[in-house]
Amino acid sequence: MTSFSLGCRAIHVWLVALDQSWDRGIAALSADEAVRAEKYRFDAPRESFTRCRVALRHLLGQYLSVSPSDVRFEYAVSRKPGLTGNSSLHFNLSHSGDFALIAVARVAPVGVDIERVRALTAQEMLENRIFSAAELDQLRRLPETQRRDGFFAGWTRKEALLKAHGDGLRTPLTSVEVCLDPRRDPKILRSKSASIHPREWTLWTLAAPAGYHASLAVRSSEPQVDVTQVGDDSTYRHCFPDGR
Ligand SMILES: CC(C)(COP(=O)(O)OP(=O)(O)OC[C@H]1O[C@@H](n2cnc3c(N)ncnc32)[C@H](O)[C@@H]1OP(=O)(O)O)[C@@H](O)C(=O)NCCC(=O)NCCS
Repeated sequence: MTSFSLGCRAIHVWLVALDQSWDRGIAALSADEAVRAEKYRFDAPRESFTRCRVALRHLLGQYLSVSPSDVRFEYAVSRKPGLTGNSSLHFNLSHSGDFALIAVARVAPVGVDIERVRALTAQEMLENRIFSAAELDQLRRLPETQRRDGFFAGWTRKEALLKAHGDGLRTPLTSVEVCLDPRRDPKILRSKSASIHPREWTLWTLAAPAGYHASLAVRSSEPQVDVTQVGDDSTYRHCFPDGR
């Protein structure tokens, strides 16, 4: 079995294409994952969930040197998944449309978010529960051609941060303010949350497939963290023992 090594300051981010069949890996899912998959009424979200879990188990199995079916998950109250008995390997996943991103790190908790860009009405853009009044003002000030990208850049930056934080909906998206300008570094500008201190976190804009925005957050102010994006199909494929 091949193993992936992950330095203590490294973060690996895997891009997974979900528009392929992953049926051969399904046997690795746990009973509770199979039950969860069954509960989806529609094929698309069921397949997306299943394929993500197959990919997640295969990838984490390579980091832990165990078989995919031996990867054990536990869930926080917020439903953030973690690894049972292993607090030193952090991961997070996100899926949207035809893609998922899986981030893996030792350095600190990570959060990742990918969103497929879609057309937005003026109301969706400027009356929503994602952005604070100050952030909506930032959006309004962006050139019109940048506004939709600003919306999705800002949304993924905030979601990645809250997913790394792991508290779920108990921390409202409006409690943190980030830079929404898609052309600028993704900085946290302000936090109203007692447990999110901007200086303790780092955000990245990830290279995403055309038509998507993606961001990564880590609970570390360490500038030397090294983010490697693994999106090439042939690189990804070698984590599957059967050549998938
Ligand atoms: C986590 C959350 C932000 C997901 O947002 P999304 O954009 O719809 O979905 P994404 O594809 O980006 O991420 C989903 C994945 O994030 C992970 N996840 C779930 N809850 C999470 C959390 N609280 N923090 C971080 N990651 C979480 C899971 O792996 C999930 O994938 P899965 O459902 O296939 O297992 C949203 O579902 C949420 O806030 N949930 C929290 C629910 C909660 O707080 N409940 C209150 C209980 S007290």
